[in-house]
Amino acid sequence: MKQIFLFLTALLFTCCSSDIEMKAETTSANHGKTLVAYYSYTGNCRSIVTELTNQIEADVVEITPVDKSQKYEENGYAIGTALLNAIKANPNDASSYPAIDPVTVSLSDYQNIIVVTPLWWSQMAAIMQTYLFGAGSQMADKSFSMIVSSASSGISGVVSDAKRLVPEASWMGDALWINNSNRRNTASLIEEWLKTLNFTEGQTTTNKMNITIDGKTQSVTLVENAATHALVEKLQQAPVSIMLNSSGGFEIWGPLGFSLPKNDQQTTAQPGDVILYNGSNLCLFYGTNSWSYTRLGKIDGLSESELRTFLKAGESNIGVVLSLDNSAAIKEVKSNGSEDGTYYSVNGQRVQNPTHGIYFKNHKKVIL
Ligand SMILES: Cc1cc2nc3c(=O)[nH]c(=O)nc-3n(C[C@H](O)[C@H](O)[C@H](O)COP(=O)(O)O)c2cc1C
Repeated sequence: MKQIFLFLTALLFTCCSSDIEMKAETTSANHGKTLVAYYSYTGNCRSIVTELTNQIEADVVEITPVDKSQKYEENGYAIGTALLNAIKANPNDASSYPAIDPVTVSLSDYQNIIVVTPLWWSQMAAIMQTYLFGAGSQMADKSFSMIVSSASSGISGVVSDAKRLVPEASWMGDALWINNSNRRNTASLIEEWLKTLNFTEGQTTTNKMNITIDGKTQSVTLVENAATHALVEKLQQAPVSIMLNSSGGFEIWGPLGFSLPKNDQQTTAQPGDVILYNGSNLCLFYGTNSWSYTRLGKIDGLSESELRTFLKAGESNIGVVLSLDNSAAIKEVKSNGSEDGTYYSVNGQRVQNPTHGIYFKNHKKVIL
């Protein structure tokens, strides 16, 4: 009875707040892929996700509880309440959170994360809390925002839960609140909200870098952070040649020869990860290791054994060239038409005395 009263009180007291509320530190430029992670018990959040993905290009992952037979609303929402109370009593203990099915998506592939979650008793639905309790630490260098669906209660408690569970995320804008009285306007609410996030066409453009070793080139999807901005700026001037060495049975690494802005976080690096260590060293992983690192990106599409071959695992003095994907510049060089042995930079500029790096000569890529 007390719970029903509280629920009705919540409905009465919260119906007048604005649709978009609770601002955190915001970031405006959002380049990179977007992941929408949602949980839905009665279908409202699922409909919101359908509308959201009509408007932006994003991958979607549904978070589902292991126990699908639960009736959270029965007996005055007794089960939902018990789940939330358990989390409140011990928020740092994984066993306080209800079990969810494994989520196979790799967060390192994404720069923008949008969580779509129901509100339960003015808090984030327990099932979504489980996901963020496990994955929140991997969202440290991501741009983050949230859509919260409630019957009528305001969402400040859900935003507080998100800040507790994803403390390091950079909010790209305020959370959007969709409730029973504005639900019919979901499409226009999302459209307006996306404008406040500065979602532009650019946000679906993946930032890429190339790594060339021994004549073989692999693309890397870069995350967006201050370190990758600085690295791209550097590579826009010229490719960077470095010498790396195998170490620890899990990586090749060595000095970049310059520093990048670091934002080190305790990270478990995975095969394929491209990592900045101590601000001025590059680590390319073919195994796993936990350390305080700044993530730069991930080598695209290679299995662990392909990575070992590509990275020359176990060897020393491995010459590595970092460059940008310059298909536009390559076209420019080709249209020149001459085969006079002139070296061109990857930006299509004539180079008189080429040193180390990637060049184009007689329409062919050459690495010096
Ligand atoms: C356990 C539980 C607790 C809820 N508590 C509240 C509440 O305190 N205030 C409110 O406005 N809505 C509350 N709701 C309603 C949901 O927030 C709302 O129906 C939401 O749109 C459900 O999203 P879904 O359909 O994606 O599950 C609760 C629902 C459940 C199941």
